[in-house]
Amino acid sequence: MNKKEAGERIFRLRKELNRHNYNYYVLSQPEIRDFEYDMMLNDLIELEKRFPEFYDKNSPTQRIGDDRNQVFVKKEHKYPMLSLENTYSQEELNDFDTRVKKIIGNDREYVCELKYDGAAISLLYDEGKLVQAVTRGDGLRGDDVTANVKTIKSIPLVLRGDDYPSLFVIRGEIFMSREGFRKLNAEMEKKGKTLFANPRNTTAGTLKMLDSSVVAKRPLDCFLYHLLGDELPYDSHYENLERAKDWGFSISPHMTKCKGINEVFDFISKWENARQDLPFDIDGVVLKVNSYRNQRQLGFTAKSPRWAISYKFKAERTVTQLLSVDFQVGRTGAITPVANLKPVLLAGTTVKRATLHNDDQIKLLDLHYGDTVFIEKGGDIIPKITGIDKTERPPEQIPVEFMTTCPACGTALIRKEEEVQHYCPNETGCPQQIKLKIIHFVSRKAMDIDGLGEETIELLYENGLIKSIDDLYKLKKEQLILLERFAEKSADNIIHGIEESKNVPFSRVLFGLGIRYVGETVAKTLANSFQSVDALMNAGFDELLGINEIGYSIAQSIKDFFSKTENRGIINRLKKNGLKFELSEDEKELRSSKLEGLNIVISGTFENHSRDELKDIIEKNGGKNSSSLSSKTNFLLAGKNMGPSKREKAKKLNIAIISEDDFMKMIQ
Ligand code: IVH
Repeated sequence: MNKKEAGERIFRLRKELNRHNYNYYVLSQPEIRDFEYDMMLNDLIELEKRFPEFYDKNSPTQRIGDDRNQVFVKKEHKYPMLSLENTYSQEELNDFDTRVKKIIGNDREYVCELKYDGAAISLLYDEGKLVQAVTRGDGLRGDDVTANVKTIKSIPLVLRGDDYPSLFVIRGEIFMSREGFRKLNAEMEKKGKTLFANPRNTTAGTLKMLDSSVVAKRPLDCFLYHLLGDELPYDSHYENLERAKDWGFSISPHMTKCKGINEVFDFISKWENARQDLPFDIDGVVLKVNSYRNQRQLGFTAKSPRWAISYKFKAERTVTQLLSVDFQVGRTGAITPVANLKPVLLAGTTVKRATLHNDDQIKLLDLHYGDTVFIEKGGDIIPKITGIDKTERPPEQIPVEFMTTCPACGTALIRKEEEVQHYCPNETGCPQQIKLKIIHFVSRKAMDIDGLGEETIELLYENGLIKSIDDLYKLKKEQLILLERFAEKSADNIIHGIEESKNVPFSRVLFGLGIRYVGETVAKTLANSFQSVDALMNAGFDELLGINEIGYSIAQSIKDFFSKTENRGIINRLKKNGLKFELSEDEKELRSSKLEGLNIVISGTFENHSRDELKDIIEKNGGKNSSSLSSKTNFLLAGKNMGPSKREKAKKLNIAIISEDDFMKMIQ
């Protein structure tokens, strides 16, 4: 092949490949198979190597990137890159519409677009060729990321046709689809690398990567939404973007023309509801006045155009800064790290703090003070930090280290090997633990003592009146009255409430003791199974494990609790004060653990009990009532009118069928 033939073939291949790129990445309508495309591309790579005189930085071969490190040069924007005024409310959109109407009258036309959650990019085309791609930067100057942007297949390197302006800028958003992001993270996981936080951050980070051959492998995409230039074909936004499709640009198919503000509201509510169905993230809707003449009439403020506004959906994810980390001591001594954040609006509320769970979580995030962090609100209300924007971390930031001593009492913290939590072991001396234990003891689900809230407990503790839960029963009205803020009435109330608490049933007293892992339900199970605190205290490890729903950690925690002299002392003193440390006679009669571990199905109608009563009896005796027969069922409690198919099924599964009488005998 001579030079002339090679040149011709190179140009033909480039043209063909550009066309297929456009079909595939912009129109999503490929005409050839991937294999054929790759063969053509390989052909071109070979030829360009053999005939370097035909090198062209906009050749389709340049999309594979270059692994030589690049430095990002700052480039001035030809037109400043402004941002948009944001609003979260429909009233403000109405105000915007009113302002527009005042200046351009009723004949206004809007264009609604989606607000893509990625990274803004400004592309400069000269004679149909991409010559520069610059990030937003400070709006006046941004980073030249041309080499990286060239790897994005939906951005044309050479334009189609010949009716494009000779020099123009087109701006848009580079983003990563959710699916692309998911796949990328799956790969990272396979390689044992740290996962990316979210598509937006990954996009921004990828654009600033030094090695464009890595960028080429990332699934970046782009929608363009803003044309700027002196010779644009139309005097309106929508029409120009429509035309830009023919030049090879990927223009969002969701762009819609609207007459008046009500159509705009329709567009917003449609996408607010359907945003989850889109393959990529959006964080709102952008509203623009269509006519350039009208845009010129409206003009700009210092920061943003007066002819456009963005309506942001209530954020589910946002970015803020980590200011400091508190280490909170819990009732059982567990230390929870809590992040103090620069206040930020998220899904309608201001977020200032987020839990960090434990040290493993801090290490996993690789959290540093001053970090720019992503926070999210999941289904629950508690916000959490899901990732860090490491590109924003100045070099001198120091990593967040877990505390080594208790912030409340100074005792060295411990972390057992198999546990993720750090603990302050000073259970009986740590003031924070003591206060929280008392607060738990008087709380509604435990002793439910009226008039004793967190602040009062704090006050009583600080004045040396209570040092442990049993001290509550020594309190005298005269002592309370001497305290600030106490009137005769409130003092009476508290003393009365404390007296009343002596009638609280055993299971709630047990719950109130605050044994680690012994919640409301476990306390009930334990009370029913052992019937008294003495029996529970003397129970062996295996005996505890033998009870349904009591596992190793609970059993260990119970043994630990009762092995401490201080705890036994507290229980003795509480007993002396008349608190209930065993089931009442009534409770004993009704409750047992006779049906412990048994799965019982009720069917039919009964002589002496309703089905609900039977269900209640089963549960009070430690059994479980299920609605359908299975291999796990132990008994079928059968009444009259039970269907034959149930009986058949019970027989097949070898399940014993018992009558109401048999059942009552079982629990007597
Ligand atoms: S128009 C002067 N249209 O939102 C017009 N921006 O604060 C400026 N964005 O930095 C931009 N989707 O990154 C426009 N359909 C859209 C957009 C959009 C996302 C981003 C863009 C810009 C920011 C505006």
